[in-house]
Amino acid sequence: MGRIVGIDLGTSTSEIACIVDGTPKLLPNSQGKLVTPSVVHIGEDGGVLVGEAAAEYLFTRPDCTFMEVKRLTGGGEVLKAHGKEYRPEEIQALLLGYLVRCAEESLKEKIERAVITVPAYFTDLQRRATAKAGELAGLAVERILNEPTAAALDYGLANLKECKNVLVYDLGGGTLDVTVLELFEGVIDVKASCGNNHLGGKDFDEIIMGRLAEPSDSADPSADERALMRLKKAAEDCKIALSTREEYQVSLPFLLTGAEGKPLSVEKTVRREDFEDWVAEKVNSTREPMMSALADAALTPGDLQVVLLVGGSTRIPCVKKLVEETLGTVPRSLVDPDLTVARGAAIQAGLIEGSINNEDLVLTDVCPYTLGTAPLQHGIFGRRVFFDPIIPRNTTIPAEKSKIYHPAVDYQTEVTIDVYQGESSDPANNERLGELNLSGIPPAKVGKESVEVSFSYDMNGILQVKASVLSTGRQVSAEISTTGIKAKAPLDLSRWEEAEGARKFRPLIRKAEKLMAAGGDPGGDVELLVRRVKEALLLKNTKEAGDLRDQLLGMLEALEQLLQLQDDRTLGIDRP
Ligand SMILES: Nc1ncnc2c1ncn2[C@@H]1O[C@H](COP(=O)(O)OP(=O)(O)OP(=O)(O)O)[C@@H](O)[C@H]1O
Ligand SMILES: [Mg+2]
Repeated sequence: MGRIVGIDLGTSTSEIACIVDGTPKLLPNSQGKLVTPSVVHIGEDGGVLVGEAAAEYLFTRPDCTFMEVKRLTGGGEVLKAHGKEYRPEEIQALLLGYLVRCAEESLKEKIERAVITVPAYFTDLQRRATAKAGELAGLAVERILNEPTAAALDYGLANLKECKNVLVYDLGGGTLDVTVLELFEGVIDVKASCGNNHLGGKDFDEIIMGRLAEPSDSADPSADERALMRLKKAAEDCKIALSTREEYQVSLPFLLTGAEGKPLSVEKTVRREDFEDWVAEKVNSTREPMMSALADAALTPGDLQVVLLVGGSTRIPCVKKLVEETLGTVPRSLVDPDLTVARGAAIQAGLIEGSINNEDLVLTDVCPYTLGTAPLQHGIFGRRVFFDPIIPRNTTIPAEKSKIYHPAVDYQTEVTIDVYQGESSDPANNERLGELNLSGIPPAKVGKESVEVSFSYDMNGILQVKASVLSTGRQVSAEISTTGIKAKAPLDLSRWEEAEGARKFRPLIRKAEKLMAAGGDPGGDVELLVRRVKEALLLKNTKEAGDLRDQLLGMLEALEQLLQLQDDRTLGIDRP
């Protein structure tokens, strides 16, 4: 089996690394750079450019040049170029493919396996879409790793002797992740993660764009894609400059054509103070996830010994200041904010391939959000749907948990299990991941039948849901996926006679059906047993079928006596 690479697939930039001589090494792209812009250009002839070469087309051909595609991961939006449609993961696959080819070139070997990082706060759907992008790029995705956890691995490997509480604050181009972990002599124990999948440097760019060119009656920049790209580039340049300078002169000559063909230009001086004012609300909103992650880890800011600042947006002075004000003056670590995630991904790859000793470095991670179902609840105000957690947020993974539910109405034979993730008690405020249908529940009064729903959440943060009828053992399972649920086909009970060994059961089942038709099964017990027998036969569960047969025999005898009794009563005979 070949070498495994680690890839930081970022909103704005991407990096690839692997382990060389026991330490992570970033691999250069075809331009010799370690950081590749996450930009893909598709040419008229279908030819693909990635990185800096693609970024050049952002201004001239924005219609077939894609940036910040990560923010669309797992969503339904499609991208169009030259009349052809692409799903976000297909574009991401082109980016991954380029990085891998560059790595192959530099290592002079074929690469077929990778660890890919995602924001800790990425949902199940977004993780699956990322894994899919890897697959489309021809890679075996060995692990989907949380970005802040990757940063912690990088720090952990370099500080194997330390025992510290660490907070990772990762603000990149499109996402915010906060992770709290304990480092204990090479054991990295992630305690809690929190974040926002829609907050990052690109939001700051957009705020600046809005301030630079407000749409007027004569011209609206949002109607002109090329003008928008120029504006976006100017805004980002301005933001980056203001990280080290007090003011910046934005100059965009002939940005737009206004009324009567008059050219409109933007000339503005932006002071750092202005910028800080404009983004204050967004920057301040990152305080809450820090406090929430700390609270979930049962720590206070005073318990922290190290803060790792990760992601290009942590170079912004007011971002650093906010982190410091929120956590107190905790020493900041000097990890490379741009490269640490890819280095950590390479370390995870090294742990899997064995080039890093997993006795030196051990990692536990958590599920960053709560996963659960949306059952019906009977209350004084009638019935309502509520969110019922099964795996609470920040449970150590892999995790497997289950709960028992009862069908909500009498004689219900089918249930739909809705799967959600989020923290609200109202499922409508959470994200719906999918559903699972379980049929073949023996009809019974409410409370008599039970359905067990179990969730298992793996090391990649991917969820598998199973449901089974406890009385019969009938089970369906599904991987909650971007394309909906892939449920196994339910059993077709009407075909029980085709099952192996069914012949022996035929007389008994016929008798039972006759009795039921005569109204001899008021409690539904016979029907239930008959169903279970049929299911056991179809599932080739011979032992269970045999046991059930004995039960059914006994029950039918009792029923016959009961029917006899009723007949006698109508004749007016009393028996003891
Ligand atoms: N010196 C700087 N000052 C301010 N912002 C900066 C600076 N350098 C980079 N950035 C911003 O950082 C962002 C990119 O950071 P990074 O490469 O860490 O993100 P990413 O990994 O691509 O995104 P994500 O992790 O959210 O998917 C961009 O928005 C960029 O404008
Ligand atoms: Mg990043």
